[in-house]
Amino acid sequence: MPETPRKILITSALPYANGSIHLGHLVEYIQTDIWARFQKLRGNTCFYVCADDAHGTPIMLRARAEGIEPEELIARVWKEHTEDFARFHIDFDNYHSTHSPENRACAELIYARNRDAGHIVRKTIQQAYDPEAEMFLPDRFIKGDCPKCGAQDQYGDNCEVCGATYAPTELKNPRSAVSGATPVERESEHLFFRLANFEDTLKTWHQAGHVQAEMANKLDEWFEAGLADWDISRDAPYFGFEIPDAPGKYFYVWLDAPIGYMASFRHLCDREGIDFDAFWRKDSEAELYHFIGKDIIYFHALFWPAMLHGAGFRMPTAVWAHGFLTVDGAKMSKSRGTFIKASTYLKHLDPEYLRYYFAAKLSPHIDDIDLNLEDFAQRVNSDLVGKVVNIASRCAGFIRKRFAGRLAGNVDQPELYETFVKAGAEIAGLFEKREFGRAVREIMALADLANQYIDEKAPWVIAKQEGRDAELHAVCSMGINLFRVLMGYLKPVLPHMANEAEAFLAIEPMTWDSQSEPLLDHAINKFKPLMTRVDRDKIGAMIEDSKEDLAAESQVATDTTQNKQADSPLLADPISETIGFEDFAKLDLRVARIAKAEHVEGADKLLRLTLDLGGETRNVFAGIKSAYAPEDLQGRLTVMVANLAPRKMRFGVSEGMVLAAGPGGSDLFILNPDDGAVPGMRVK
Ligand code: 2FM
Ligand code: ZN
Repeated sequence: MPETPRKILITSALPYANGSIHLGHLVEYIQTDIWARFQKLRGNTCFYVCADDAHGTPIMLRARAEGIEPEELIARVWKEHTEDFARFHIDFDNYHSTHSPENRACAELIYARNRDAGHIVRKTIQQAYDPEAEMFLPDRFIKGDCPKCGAQDQYGDNCEVCGATYAPTELKNPRSAVSGATPVERESEHLFFRLANFEDTLKTWHQAGHVQAEMANKLDEWFEAGLADWDISRDAPYFGFEIPDAPGKYFYVWLDAPIGYMASFRHLCDREGIDFDAFWRKDSEAELYHFIGKDIIYFHALFWPAMLHGAGFRMPTAVWAHGFLTVDGAKMSKSRGTFIKASTYLKHLDPEYLRYYFAAKLSPHIDDIDLNLEDFAQRVNSDLVGKVVNIASRCAGFIRKRFAGRLAGNVDQPELYETFVKAGAEIAGLFEKREFGRAVREIMALADLANQYIDEKAPWVIAKQEGRDAELHAVCSMGINLFRVLMGYLKPVLPHMANEAEAFLAIEPMTWDSQSEPLLDHAINKFKPLMTRVDRDKIGAMIEDSKEDLAAESQVATDTTQNKQADSPLLADPISETIGFEDFAKLDLRVARIAKAEHVEGADKLLRLTLDLGGETRNVFAGIKSAYAPEDLQGRLTVMVANLAPRKMRFGVSEGMVLAAGPGGSDLFILNPDDGAVPGMRVK
């Protein structure tokens, strides 16, 4: 145990209060929870807090679409999130909401102190405004035709067809994704945080090792590009906190989100009488760690420490980013059923399988991690069931039946026991450095040693021989004691299984060091299997179930990426303006057979399709590469707009357009007429 317990405050990023927790999120919560549990087992004073990120335009519009108040939406989601987390054994000391009195007070204080210190400026800006919905539009809520390639229905910041980036004002035929109206330009006064005032402070802080090396490189690039003023206000209507000295203006969601860490802790302190200032004052000796995803580094390594510093608070001890989750080597996809919600996973599989698998894959680096489903089943079965549980199950029966459930007064090989105890220092060092994968490998190497010992001693052979009872007792007691040490090391990763092991061993809750002496002459309880094997059929059922989730959600396009954008639209596209029958009649929709599909050199999103219209062929470029490989398309029937005027594109002339549905990315589906349809047939 450390001589003086450290004081540690740990956070995970706050999930938005309008979407479900999925396996991509869980990488972070599991990583943080393991680290927080480890610190507590070491005897440190440690708190792990989080909250729902409840403000912003998408949440306001989502509530509106459901016909409820935002407060009702966020209360419902809070309940769902906390239940999911609890079932994955994520042990927050407090789980709060950014829409709380504590967060309002902290946000107002941090804002006022920065303002009084001269770090806030007011500037009038031009912004797109939806005259019908009577609101200013974030970039992601403006759609239109790409100014570079003309592709329709592109977002206000970049084109998914040609990859161009631009300002929303450059879009052709812009329309609001909220009402469908044409946006107009309007002036508005906004408040900005002068990030550049903190350049030297931030550089010094980064150089002092508070961020990972990979992050420091990225930050250098940002410094070189220059630190721009940050717009921290949004105009009404907005779901958030009104800025005290700017009526009708609200704090931008990203201003009060990280402040939610502090507010959640304040809420905990008020409830439990913990000294808040000891953790947040400028000269605090307490440690403050933020675990985050790699997509939100800018906010946590620049804005957040700067705001804290500007308001006279301490800066974080470290900001640690992890990578994204891929499943079977690819981005999580709803159509493939690999976009798996926490609640869907829990219907089929044990949460500790995933905790173990993620632990085995996690490192202190920012690399993405892959959930390979076959490897997942294989590793859990072989390591946890085949190695760890097996040690106890091979010894427990003899102790119970032959020795009335009592361990021997000695262990067979004290030096082997000592090897296990001594390994604790190395394993602790690895947990401390977030080298969870390496820690797990060390623990499994010990499990191999324990199994090797049992194999060599073969208690099942001794048990059959007369006069070897004492030996049998010592060997099986040794096995149980080795199992206990292993479970102590695995406790941060497998807290539930460790609790079950404690019940089986009839011991007090284990700490990191409580296994330094073996259990001797100690009564244990009946052994129950502590974990069952991963059933591959259940993995298959979970994937199928996740595909079904898509159908249920198809009316509301949720955010399917892990690089979540606060301002991404969460509503199904509104039905656009009506057209007359004459306009409709002008469309010549035809069944087409995809005779050939090919990659287009230099194009990220496009495939070149040769379409057979029954006697005529057309060359069409379709932005569907994110969803289909050419070989998936060849020979299939689809529907095309046959009388679209030919369009010259960078890669050639496109003679029509195929119809597809879906929010984009891998969730894009070309329309497939039934087999009876024939190329060239008119679609009525
Ligand atoms: O990216 C996200 O999901 C944000 N809701 C994270 C906020 S973290 C913190 F700053 F609050
Ligand atoms: Zn384009």
